[in-house]
Amino acid sequence: MAVDQGTSTKTAALQAERERWVAASVYSQPLFVDHAHGARITDVDGREFIDFVGGIGTLNGGHTPEDVVEAVREQATRFMHQCFSVVGYEGYIEVCRRLVACHPGAGPFKALLVNSGAEAVENAIKIARYATGRQAIISFDQGFHGRTMLAMSLTSKPMPYKKGFGPFVGEVYRAPGPYPYRGVSGADALAGLRKVFKSQIDPSAVAAVIYEPVQGEGGFLPAPAGFIEGVYALCQEHGILYIDDEVQAGMGRTGTPSAIEHCGVSPDLATWGKSMGGGLPIAGVTGRADLMDAVHVGGLGGTFGGNPISCAAAIVALDEVLDAGYQARSKALGEDMRGRLEAIAGRHSCVGEVRGLGAMLAIELVRDPATKEPATEETARTVALARERGLLLMAAGVYANVIRVLVPLVATASDLDEGFATLEESLSDAFAGR
Ligand SMILES: Cc1ncc(COP(=O)(O)O)c(C=O)c1O
Repeated sequence: MAVDQGTSTKTAALQAERERWVAASVYSQPLFVDHAHGARITDVDGREFIDFVGGIGTLNGGHTPEDVVEAVREQATRFMHQCFSVVGYEGYIEVCRRLVACHPGAGPFKALLVNSGAEAVENAIKIARYATGRQAIISFDQGFHGRTMLAMSLTSKPMPYKKGFGPFVGEVYRAPGPYPYRGVSGADALAGLRKVFKSQIDPSAVAAVIYEPVQGEGGFLPAPAGFIEGVYALCQEHGILYIDDEVQAGMGRTGTPSAIEHCGVSPDLATWGKSMGGGLPIAGVTGRADLMDAVHVGGLGGTFGGNPISCAAAIVALDEVLDAGYQARSKALGEDMRGRLEAIAGRHSCVGEVRGLGAMLAIELVRDPATKEPATEETARTVALARERGLLLMAAGVYANVIRVLVPLVATASDLDEGFATLEESLSDAFAGR
């Protein structure tokens, strides 16, 4: 599967055009796709790549799933845009019905549709502020909630997400996020949140807390047992709403429609995106009907939110997410991949920890398992070497030393065999001589 860089003539030409026309601030790997299917991408020079990134968790159902492609084609011939605030259509309602079914708990729940995860987060906060009449929001260390001004203000990592973009939105407070491998247990983080109520903001002024059940960009950190339950109980005690950010961890990635389902908490509000559109841009907010209906008519909306073509794709994608067979496959894939990663960890001391939930898994790479010094450069080198060898990887984590696996859940055994072999080979070479 070695990739011959010497034949990359179209890639080189496109890279030059990209440098000429596209803002340098938008990061991208030097790779241009021609077509993709399942867990494989073929680039403009005919090179094939196994995709362990899946558009950063947007392709749980794989590239170009036939039923999504067909639904998009069919919808495109009927109508492509209306703006739901101008003319309604069934697809929007059907997506909301399915998204509500993903929200754990007894309900009643309702939904609204937007374009991106960041927009879902913004709307969830708007609803929480409106419904409670309070302003403050608490997010957690290692949290990532998007790049728009409010979502970025909630996000914890300065580089590359926040540096130079302030001032940030007011009334955002941050509590310690659990990170047991680096010394912050769930109990420590819970104590940290209690301290925020004493040292930063009175709980009676807090509208909501927002937390990812598996922190994604922050390094694939699953909530330790009891943490979400503890935060939720504190929220209940103080009349604070719990917002569950499922944008990366949801949509069947962890074996269930929502990742928070693993701890049995029914959040007041939840945000969804990424894989819910089967590859098309769509996102949403679900929540208790009384909260979702609290805002005055016309207070929420937008031009493209719940675009009809995206809705047609999302109906197919959500039907899969809600299907028991799909969930069982996701769980089985997660177990399979965890075994493969643990085997790699057993052979390479640079793997400090294998962690995650279901099929949302990662390895944290360190220079020395005793000191846990983050292996940031070696991680970047592993990613680059893997790409040269036909495997797409992406780093995560506050120290950029975590390699996450978000391979489409439809990956075949040979995708996994080849992909994990290339990952291990690249890891070995990146750390050679250390
Ligand atoms: C947990 C979480 N929330 C929100 C977002 C923002 O989503 P989007 O990039 O679609 O705006 C992301 C994106 O990675 C995410 O992982």
